[in-house]
Amino acid sequence: RKKVVVFISGGGSNMVALAKAAAAPDFPAEIIAVISDKANAGGLDKARALGIAAFSFVRKDFASKEAHEAAITAELDRLQPDIICLAGYMRLLSAAFIQRYEGRILNIHPSLLPLFPGLHTHQRSIDAGMRIAGCTVHFVTEGMDDGPIIAQAAVPIVPGDTAETLAARVLTVEHRTYPMALRLVAEGKVRMEAGRAVGDVTGEASGTLI
Ligand code: GAR
Repeated sequence: RKKVVVFISGGGSNMVALAKAAAAPDFPAEIIAVISDKANAGGLDKARALGIAAFSFVRKDFASKEAHEAAITAELDRLQPDIICLAGYMRLLSAAFIQRYEGRILNIHPSLLPLFPGLHTHQRSIDAGMRIAGCTVHFVTEGMDDGPIIAQAAVPIVPGDTAETLAARVLTVEHRTYPMALRLVAEGKVRMEAGRAVGDVTGEASGTLI
């Protein structure tokens, strides 16, 4: 089974979804640790409750972005993960970090990329008059919310939606899409090659309309 470290900054509901999926004996990956950049991230206690080691590396405890990342990298050198899953990790990783784990870092973003990368995704989708929204799991490259797409799922935007109601609806499909995407990558069915996601991208991962 592939060893996975999950990076979080907040409540960690996607991390919990990954951990629950990974608890199945036939799942091809296991969550070996959770790393947070916030000491009070709700996901830290949720991870520990699931028996998963959880560490926080708070940016202000370090003199620079480089020193912060070096501490995280040292922990990863100890943990030796095969795959890193960003799950609501609200900090950009350096190019050096991404190159070190090239093709082995996944991220989930709560929009149908390449639409609405970055912050305030849900409000921007509503403001644009979109009728559907969704989530995207992609390989992490140096651009923000910009790497090759592994899997997506869509949900409707309905009259009266606010950023909060839409975020909650998108989150329900995030919890199904991220484990599916991790499974595909851990099984080697989808991989990053020359900046593209290749493999079973027309099959199981071709997209889910929910
Ligand atoms: C999720 O909606 C995730 O897609 C989003 O943050 C939320 C984290 O929730 N990520 C981003 O916006 C990254 N740019 P969670 O902590 O409950 O998984």
